Amino acid sequence: MLVSAEDMLKKAKAGKYAVGQFNINNLEWTKSILLTAQELNSPVILGVSEGAGKYMTGFKTVAAMVDAMVDSLGITVPVALHLDHGSYEGAKACIEAGFSSIMFDGSHYPIEENVAKTKELVAICKEKGLSLEAEVGSIGGEEDGVIGAGECADPDECKAVADLGVTMLAAGIGNIHGKYPENWAGLSFETLDAIQQKTGDMPLVLHGGTGIPEDMIKKAISLGVAKINVNTECQLSFAAATRKYIEEGKDLEGKGFDPRKLLAPGAEAIKATVKEKMELFGSVGKA
Ligand code: 13P
Repeated sequence: MLVSAEDMLKKAKAGKYAVGQFNINNLEWTKSILLTAQELNSPVILGVSEGAGKYMTGFKTVAAMVDAMVDSLGITVPVALHLDHGSYEGAKACIEAGFSSIMFDGSHYPIEENVAKTKELVAICKEKGLSLEAEVGSIGGEEDGVIGAGECADPDECKAVADLGVTMLAAGIGNIHGKYPENWAGLSFETLDAIQQKTGDMPLVLHGGTGIPEDMIKKAISLGVAKINVNTECQLSFAAATRKYIEEGKDLEGKGFDPRKLLAPGAEAIKATVKEKMELFGSVGKA
């Protein structure tokens, strides 16, 4: 059964660790992430961007696939199925489709409009027992064509959104989706600290988890981050393993072209990446 992310994040916050959100794109990714979470006895959040949802033929397909897979693989650790960077319409579609957790990214609206739309979604999610993530201050880089400049959020705006009763808050602290540029200034811990001071116990979310140095990840967790999103790193490890398999000519040997064999090294590589991240985030054994 899919669960809201509320309990797992409250526990993570109290225990000073973070739950990983790993984005899914297809059946293989979903299976690799679920099996790793179960093996490591870790809670997990499966993230679905609107683009990935479309690719998988719609949110209903995704919800049905994940729900059935949790059951058929005998997964007993807590699993939340979460819309990543949802639009207002996308949020409503995922609530309808059976997602257990929603991110409404209203960071590109003026703060008043972000507050109004988030408030409406808080009421719907509360009624249905779903967790809701809001965003203040856009996360840099490009994700599914949505481009953000990587600003630092205003702590007072963060408080205004946190006070609406959201479950978790993504606040820009200089983080960027995708690979970090050579001249990246690093995370602004000053901003993170100021946001947490204003928002009390609110679990904070760190997007752009790929490529952030380990010491920064640990410091961010110590300052209140309870959820960390990883997408690009799984894509990179999947692509590298697949390329190696093809370059070695394994697809031309025996029945190596069988899609189940062709995708297997990439699926194994995702397992290794997820394991490494769960160990770094401290969520192993916390299910
Ligand atoms: P990366 O792709 O940089 O790992 O970021 C993922 C993310 O934040 C999804 O919302």
